[in-house]
Amino acid sequence: MEIRKAIIPAAGYGTRSLPITKVLPKEMFPVAGKPAIHHIVEEASLAGINEILIVVSRNKNMILDYFDRSLELEAFLAMNNKEYLLEQTVLPDVHIQYVRQPFARGLGDAVLLGERFAGSAPFAVLLPDDLFVSSEKPAVSQVLDAFTLTGSNIVGVQKAPHEELHQYGVAAPASPGPKGSVFALGDLVEKPKKNPPSNLAVCGRYAFTPEIFSYLKNGKPGAGGEIQLTDAMKSMLGEHPYSAVVIEGERFDLGKEDDYYRAIAWHLNRRNGS
Ligand code: G1P
Repeated sequence: MEIRKAIIPAAGYGTRSLPITKVLPKEMFPVAGKPAIHHIVEEASLAGINEILIVVSRNKNMILDYFDRSLELEAFLAMNNKEYLLEQTVLPDVHIQYVRQPFARGLGDAVLLGERFAGSAPFAVLLPDDLFVSSEKPAVSQVLDAFTLTGSNIVGVQKAPHEELHQYGVAAPASPGPKGSVFALGDLVEKPKKNPPSNLAVCGRYAFTPEIFSYLKNGKPGAGGEIQLTDAMKSMLGEHPYSAVVIEGERFDLGKEDDYYRAIAWHLNRRNGS
């Protein structure tokens, strides 16, 4: 079964990027002239996804405005013979809808708000903090390929330095361990304080079957007192087939200032052909 739907959770406060996130959603941070979330929607669209649900919160109206037409701007450009500039406002060809998360109860709670949207179809989740570049295949396409290959739930992972693993969900392969880039999942721990079960960090791209929703509904607050997506995924292990795929490509965590600037530098270098 092909995946055509995706959920993008974009309701967080962006506390790592304060104070700017008091007024500017982190998803709207510009990267190469476009807001970060535009790149994420583009990635999904390139992977064949044609319906997206963005989970927002009260202070994220700018995201809705961005993905809407600007009739005033269009009229202004038409009146001033500058229609050619409209090309620069073209958006990816996907249907986008929105739901608001009333309380900041965590990533798992945000994804649960997509239950009606997903219905009985499998779906992808893309975290907009995680911007991938430089692989031949968009990161989420690699996850969707693994889903088609295995028919199982998929979590995208990448190796991370040991000292950073406590910031991530960490995924351990089922024994006897991975032979290729797609492997059966043995364990998952959200933000392990010590003894991470591997060096493979969950990196913001997932494919789910709709069974995830019943696990999210039964979820208890986990790390940080929030309903964690990783905890619901862990409860599914053993009850539903679950695999991981090591994602090729460079990943920038836009919530880290250094990574944000590195993402911009990557695009600049590409533009300048270096
Ligand atoms: C979330 C997930 C975590 C994952 C990370 C990737 O954490 O809960 O499992 O490793 O995204 O970016 P957050 O960064 O939202 O705290």
